[in-house]
Amino acid sequence: APQELRYDGQVVVVTGAGGGLGKAYSLYFGERGASVVVNDLGGSFKGSGSDSRAADVVVEEIKSKGGKAVANYDSVADGEKIIDTAIKAFGRIDILINNAGILRDVSFKNMKDADWDLIMTVHVWGAYKCARAAWPHFRKQKYGRVINTASAAGLFGSFGQTNYSAAKLAQVGFTETLAKEGLKYNILANVIAPIAASRMTETVMPPDVLENLKPDWVIPLVGVLVHSSNTTETGGIFEVGGGHMAKLRWERAKGGLCRADSTFTPGSVLAKWKDVNDFSKPSYPTGVANFMELLEEAQKLPPNEPGEDIDFKGKVVLI
Ligand code: NAI
Repeated sequence: APQELRYDGQVVVVTGAGGGLGKAYSLYFGERGASVVVNDLGGSFKGSGSDSRAADVVVEEIKSKGGKAVANYDSVADGEKIIDTAIKAFGRIDILINNAGILRDVSFKNMKDADWDLIMTVHVWGAYKCARAAWPHFRKQKYGRVINTASAAGLFGSFGQTNYSAAKLAQVGFTETLAKEGLKYNILANVIAPIAASRMTETVMPPDVLENLKPDWVIPLVGVLVHSSNTTETGGIFEVGGGHMAKLRWERAKGGLCRADSTFTPGSVLAKWKDVNDFSKPSYPTGVANFMELLEEAQKLPPNEPGEDIDFKGKVVLI
């Protein structure tokens, strides 16, 4: 038989696993030896209603192929119950795939508190609750793998999705810090911005495009990241879909430096605007700029040109 990455003896929790990407993850892990907790509330993609069938169907499919799985119907907002299901059914948890999600698309002008709140609850609070409940187990066993799910909407913005964008970029910061705090305990966390055909995207993309964006094409990258053979790749942000995968990172421009004293005015800022925006020789920071060094350098600079501000159009404004 061909060799394959296996997860024998491991327990995987997949949230929002009744359809779309979550279902594809569950089937993948179920076929490769893991015990899977298939969590799904079974509501609509706008977050209303609930139906235990969503998770049950996936559990049945895993079992019919000889795999091990149990269903959980709780909302990720009650994440501790989902992790509890894993512990009760299988005695441990090794991998957490925070995948559950909904949309409440509405222009910012018409955004209601409830639209904002629900999105934050499911995506941000939900990912937190599941990870928080899994964390003590991960630490104790000195092993854990977490995938959080961001979105291009969070990274780049997207019309009608201020709530979703905010919740999705939150996954990035959340992951970065989990990666830092987890490293010592062999807990690795990565975040993906997937693209795949699902009920979430079926109305916004044409059928021929969707055809090439099977959820299945997101799974292999995640399978690699959460495998025990990965011991170093953590805190990564990955775009993934349709066979394409790429890591994303921050880029810092050259930057402008002004002497920080009473001569430092809006005009001084605009005089340096080109440097502030100069990406011709970028750096790729993994932390804040070296402020101690920069402060020292700034104090060595001559005073800023006094007496005038210039506005964005280069117009001199006398002050
Ligand atoms: P989907 O709608 O098929 O799957 C999401 C699942 O989460 C559903 O089965 C739903 O019942 C479940 N769910 C919703 N709220 C829940 C809750 N409170 N507790 C438990 N389960 C809940 O959509 P898809 O596309 O598979 O989405 C999966 C994840 O990927 C989501 O986080 C989504 O935001 C993200 N994503 C998907 C993209 C795509 O192109 N499909 C693009 C960017 C991000």
